[in-house]
Amino acid sequence: MFHSSKQYLLYNLFQPHATDLRTLCISSYRLSHTVFYRASHVQSSVIMFLRNLYRNTVNLSIRNYSANKCKTKVPKILITGGLGQLGVECARYLRCKYGKDNVILSDIIKPTEEIVNDGPYIFVDILDFKGLQKVVVNHGVDWLIHFSALLSAIGEQNVPLAVRVNIEGVHNVIELAKQYKLRLFVPSTIGAFGPDSPRNPTPNVTVQRPRTIYGVSKVHAELLGEYYYHKFGLDFRCLRFPGVISSDPPGGGTTDYAIAVFHDVLRKGTYQCYLKPDTRLPMMHVRDALRALSEFLDAPNDKLVRRVYNVTSMSFTPEELTAAMSKHIPDFKITYQPDSRQDIADSWPQVFDDSEARRDWNWKPEVDLENLVTLMIKEVKEKIATNGKLPS
Ligand SMILES: NC(=O)c1ccc[n+]([C@@H]2O[C@H](COP(=O)([O-])OP(=O)(O)OC[C@H]3O[C@@H](n4cnc5c(N)ncnc54)[C@H](O)[C@@H]3O)[C@@H](O)[C@H]2O)c1
Repeated sequence: MFHSSKQYLLYNLFQPHATDLRTLCISSYRLSHTVFYRASHVQSSVIMFLRNLYRNTVNLSIRNYSANKCKTKVPKILITGGLGQLGVECARYLRCKYGKDNVILSDIIKPTEEIVNDGPYIFVDILDFKGLQKVVVNHGVDWLIHFSALLSAIGEQNVPLAVRVNIEGVHNVIELAKQYKLRLFVPSTIGAFGPDSPRNPTPNVTVQRPRTIYGVSKVHAELLGEYYYHKFGLDFRCLRFPGVISSDPPGGGTTDYAIAVFHDVLRKGTYQCYLKPDTRLPMMHVRDALRALSEFLDAPNDKLVRRVYNVTSMSFTPEELTAAMSKHIPDFKITYQPDSRQDIADSWPQVFDDSEARRDWNWKPEVDLENLVTLMIKEVKEKIATNGKLPS
């Protein structure tokens, strides 16, 4: 028998079944209706107190439930431009982490049978806003990794198309990411710097005056992303990658020589390099690049001082790379015939300063030049054995 509502509350608080405040409030609120409400002497203020406590606690528990759910929910990820050098490997990496069906590859290219067997693949032209919107809605996309682009050397050969794909395409994905509250990752590049930038080392924040349409479009993406973050709270994340080295065919960038040299040397024993032997550029094995991307996407927002970070693993010249290769492959010949890509390389960073990424979200490269050469020889040999041909 309880003589007051306070007595009842105190009693319940010490009952073993009152495991949380919500249970207590639900039971006390119900009882307040059945016992106290009907009793004429119960003060209405007590009922109001219990009613509000019940409502607030239920609301609180709903909010907590949502927050916990978000924390543990596996994100649904869409990769645009996914059949390029980075996309296929990226999908494999993220599918291991988040499950095969949670990572959707997309591109405008017809996929191989292997790609189709690997996991979900759909056609997405990033210039088609409505089509992209339909995919985001129908597949319940949470994170968008935007890889579609025309790279530095290819971009210079078709500037109007580069403007469309690299600039208009970013307008589409950023607007969608804002509308549907997606986490948006857009890679940038060492090509976002130019001849006026300090080249050794190139810090995270410095002058950016690139001289390629590729670089201009990447600076545009960086600035637009930061603007949307500040103005609309968009969870925009961007890493400036150096040349990424993998055994897959490169997409027409200035650092591609560091991939082609392995394919040519292992197949023909010779390679003609389009850069001078002493051209120093920052580089990274794809394994480090994908780990950086994944760790950065996972990093809590409050750790991120910036939305755009430099990342790198090493810097080398064609001469230094081939010297490291010669420890594993005794006999091959390199010739040098610099072309227009030399001018691009000469305007880019030589050594990339990624200390801010290391400080803010603990970025740390693992693959150095020796490891890179060992990995590439193994991986390219496997590719040649499977395909029997050079990358196109
Ligand atoms: N590979 C590197 O070394 C490197 C370095 C720094 C930054 N990045 C950036 O990473 C991203 C991926 O690079 P990558 O090397 O895989 O590029 P890639 O050139 O190999 O692939 C780009 C893909 O975009 C697709 N694409 C072109 N137009 C499209 C359209 N309208 N709609 C949809 N897709 C379209 C192409 O079909 C292609 O498969 C790019 O944004 C690039 O700028 C790459």
